[in-house]
Amino acid sequence: MAVIRRSRAAPLLALVVTLFLLFGLEYSVPGPPSSYRSSPKLKPRLHFTPSGFNWSAAEQYYPVESLTPLPKGRRTQLPKVQHDFGKHAQRNDAVTEKRRLAVMDAFVRSWESYKQFAWLQDELTPVSAESKNPFGGWAATMVDALDTLWMMGLKEDFFKAAQAVVDIDFSKTEETGINLFETTIRHLGGLLSAYDLSGEPALLAKAVDLGDMLYMAFDTPNRMPGFWLTFENAKNGIQKAGTYDPSAAPTSMSLEFTRLAQLTGDDKYYDAIDRIRAFLERTQEDSLLPGMWPSQINFRSQSVRNGNTFTIGALADSLYEYLPKMFVLLGGRAGAKPYEKMYRRAMEIVSERLLFKPMLKRKPTEPPLLFAGTVYVHDEAGPHLIGEGQHLSCFAGGMFLLGGKVFGIQEHLEIGEGLARGCGWAYAAFPTGVMPEIFNLVQCGPHDDECEWNETRWRDEGGGDSRLPSGFINARDPRYILRPEAIESIFILYRVTGNEELRDIAWDMFQGIMKSTKTEHAYSAIADVTVEGETRKDDSMESFWLAETLKYFYLIFSPPDVISLDDYVLNTEAHPFKRA
Ligand SMILES: *[C@@H]1O[C@H](CO)[C@@H](O)[C@H](O)[C@H]1NC(C)=O
Ligand SMILES: *[C@@H]1O[C@H](CO)[C@@H](O)[C@H](O)[C@H]1NC(C)=O
Repeated sequence: MAVIRRSRAAPLLALVVTLFLLFGLEYSVPGPPSSYRSSPKLKPRLHFTPSGFNWSAAEQYYPVESLTPLPKGRRTQLPKVQHDFGKHAQRNDAVTEKRRLAVMDAFVRSWESYKQFAWLQDELTPVSAESKNPFGGWAATMVDALDTLWMMGLKEDFFKAAQAVVDIDFSKTEETGINLFETTIRHLGGLLSAYDLSGEPALLAKAVDLGDMLYMAFDTPNRMPGFWLTFENAKNGIQKAGTYDPSAAPTSMSLEFTRLAQLTGDDKYYDAIDRIRAFLERTQEDSLLPGMWPSQINFRSQSVRNGNTFTIGALADSLYEYLPKMFVLLGGRAGAKPYEKMYRRAMEIVSERLLFKPMLKRKPTEPPLLFAGTVYVHDEAGPHLIGEGQHLSCFAGGMFLLGGKVFGIQEHLEIGEGLARGCGWAYAAFPTGVMPEIFNLVQCGPHDDECEWNETRWRDEGGGDSRLPSGFINARDPRYILRPEAIESIFILYRVTGNEELRDIAWDMFQGIMKSTKTEHAYSAIADVTVEGETRKDDSMESFWLAETLKYFYLIFSPPDVISLDDYVLNTEAHPFKRA
């Protein structure tokens, strides 16, 4: 339905855009951007169906003795995150408007194929036009895309999809268990933000229905959840926390469970994640790199001594991302202080040990670039930094920018900008216009005068492959799987600084992605970003393509008061939660 409406409007919009391009005027955005706000006065349109198994009535084998409630007390007036855009906050110029519509077009193309070939399935396979179910078969792409549909003003599709979502039966799956982290950030996050935007009570009811299932994962002897929620184990009270789990997994449920507690008034959800906060706080100085937590943690013995790898990329990323975001979601109340403390301390170490400048052929007048590498700690040799870049760690620019604003740390604003620009630059460096999943760069020396381009050094360290841009040693994992983190940080940098040049960088990134991932039906992960010409398509389109990547592109080309970062905090799947 949305497509019909859109295609009727398109010629008219094109005319309007052309006219205003010619006369250089601004015009107000039609429809979508003003209608993203919830309208609680409207009568609910969705009807909730509970799942076939009620987990909140299931037996808790390790019940909690006393619940830690949500922090009460006065919320602090936090500093503004967004640049003061003045009257431009609600308007688009004609070029930006054209870009916004191009992003919407890519979204609608993907969404229509999902509807046609993969309705209610987790993912569309965008080459073969079939579907697959890596997340339990509960319509991951649809749940994840609800809030983007809403933001884009595709209301008929939103309500149709949302009705299908509130009918999902989470007791029905072919799997014996689920990935707790993924289900929390995608499904629970998606339901909560769709509720925060639309105000539809059925979406909150479905969030509770799912949240109670996820809450069962905390029913272990030490109340730390495992990586998998295995249904039979949960029903029989034999769950245990993991002994070597990704550090981000149990630690990045805090925003979702806190929002659920805020919306329902039920403290049990907050209590569950606050125990993980206490564990992190207690162990922050215990690791082999004090101040940070290793990328893998023994949650069963609650020890952080085993891991020797320290990164803000894969395995660990959103542990760090959620520290400032929890502070913001809790409104800066006294109870949120530990999150600020942990963030400040961890970022001290990240800045000292993980961040590096790459050695590149660049003019000193160009803006500085930064990357976040990986540190290995060996007993004899001590910490050793590898100059690695990961698409996943590109979120870090946005994290430093948010922390810099909320806690008033000027240095973090500069670091955040360097990191965001590093990722933007890496997109432009490749012929596809997209950066690889993982790569290595030559690090500058520790002193400012050791950053001059040195061809010999580049070749000595393994560079010189004619397919790679200068400065790169390799593209260790040359795929691009439609990930969002680079545009995420460029978007946040734009909202924080108001620098219009960033929209041009974003537009170049978008065009690179369009050019290299487009298939007959939608867009696909690609095997190698270093190739000229036609790319090999991997027939995969993860739900974050619609939930995150296209949402961030859409938002950077929307007027800045659409999902203002002063009103919302976004979870690690780009689902906006209202700042209470
Ligand atoms: C699930 O069980 C709880 C506790 O017994 C009860 O309060 C709730 O109403 C039940 N939910 C549904 C949808 O039946
Ligand atoms: C360039 O790097 C090599 C090491 O690979 C070093 O021997 C040489 O002195 C460097 N040249 C300059 C001009 O610094």
